Amino acid sequence: MKQQREQWTSKLGFILAAAGSAIGLGAIWKFPYIAGTNGGGAFLFVFILFTLLVGMPILLAEFAIGRSAQKDAISAYKFLTPGTAWPWLGRIGIVSSFIILSFYSVVGGWIFIYLLHIFLGNLQIESAEQFNQLFSESIMNPYLAVGGQLIFMILTIWVVGRGVQKGIERASQIMMPALFICFIILIIRSLTLPNVGEGISFFLLPDFGALNSKTIIYALGHSFFALSVGNSVMVTYSSYLEKNTSLSKSATVIVIMNIVISLLAGLAIFPAVFSLGMEPTEGPGLLFVVLPAVFNEMHFGMVFLFIFLILFLFATLTSAFSLLEIIVAVFSKDKPKRRKKVTWITGILIFLAGVPSALSFGVLKDTTIINKSIFDTADFLASNILLPIGALFIALYAAFKLPKSLLLNELTINTKHGKIVFTIWYFLIRYIAPTAIIIVFLDSIGMFDW
Ligand code: PHE
Repeated sequence: MKQQREQWTSKLGFILAAAGSAIGLGAIWKFPYIAGTNGGGAFLFVFILFTLLVGMPILLAEFAIGRSAQKDAISAYKFLTPGTAWPWLGRIGIVSSFIILSFYSVVGGWIFIYLLHIFLGNLQIESAEQFNQLFSESIMNPYLAVGGQLIFMILTIWVVGRGVQKGIERASQIMMPALFICFIILIIRSLTLPNVGEGISFFLLPDFGALNSKTIIYALGHSFFALSVGNSVMVTYSSYLEKNTSLSKSATVIVIMNIVISLLAGLAIFPAVFSLGMEPTEGPGLLFVVLPAVFNEMHFGMVFLFIFLILFLFATLTSAFSLLEIIVAVFSKDKPKRRKKVTWITGILIFLAGVPSALSFGVLKDTTIINKSIFDTADFLASNILLPIGALFIALYAAFKLPKSLLLNELTINTKHGKIVFTIWYFLIRYIAPTAIIIVFLDSIGMFDW
């Protein structure tokens, strides 16, 4: 007899798990550093615009696909449109999830390195330079980098192996509110440092002169990365959802939380960057250099830093779970008994694929692919190419392939003003989202530079 598929135990469980997937390194670590290197406020503005007009409609499309099919990322497309090439959308999603988790786990590993530094007392330092140096030395060290990455992957494998409800849902329930409170404390300290005006205006006042085709493609890619859309992760998560939950309400909560956490991260980091005489263009180390320095300015700073790192780790893990879950769901679909084995094999392969990224700040520093380090190449390929392509085709699939009646039904369940919500969504997904993605793509390969 076929065993029943698992489901989320409650509506809240689904929202928390989906928000847990969305909120992670994207909002907390990546957003501040790419905003910092791509013009600050202007980047923030374009990112929010893309999130609302393009990312959110695609999130809803993934929800509708997943819940109506109740299947994994590849089978869902097979079930809804049999005998077509659309299941390739799921396969592209599997590839991009694999690549994302391979470098995601590297940054997850850095969090463990910092926890170790706290215990060894290595963070009792003063100047911005020393924090900078500690960061570079840590990530250059191959044992630390690969060791941290390995621990991160083992934890991810362990939780995902235990299954959707028990593992993922429960872990997501405590961390979100705690993370929020921790950020508020951090922001209060950051905003009460001397000379924070420059940092606030850098982050909140858009200087549109700073925008170019590169910043725009990064903002688009990031709006997908941060919401976990484009690789059918949200198709997989919503396939475990029963029929009563309002999809648009869930999407709204997730989008708002995601934008709020990005804003909080920016407000915690940028004022401090300028106040402590650092550069906003620091790159991937921005958070790891700036935040320990801010905590250092507080009473019981190391205790707070420890709490922050644990919450940051949780946020990162809950996103990593979703990236591994989508792959495991595909390969263990009708055979729950295989789940543990599939999880371990996939997880170990991802770890191995990520080792070059982990080493690309040290031993493999000089190995570059089109002027980018291995780590940056993996990120660029997944975030700025595969996710936008996936997102474009998901939009086209929902808008032009699926029956309108199916979508109307999915999106109006338990939703006030469902018809209006549907009409707006249908317009965005048919016209705005695909056009925006295509224009940004053409622009980024120089089509409009006459
Ligand atoms: N949204 C996650 C984050 O911001 C990353 C992610 C991307 C997860 C795509 C799943 C799918 O950290």
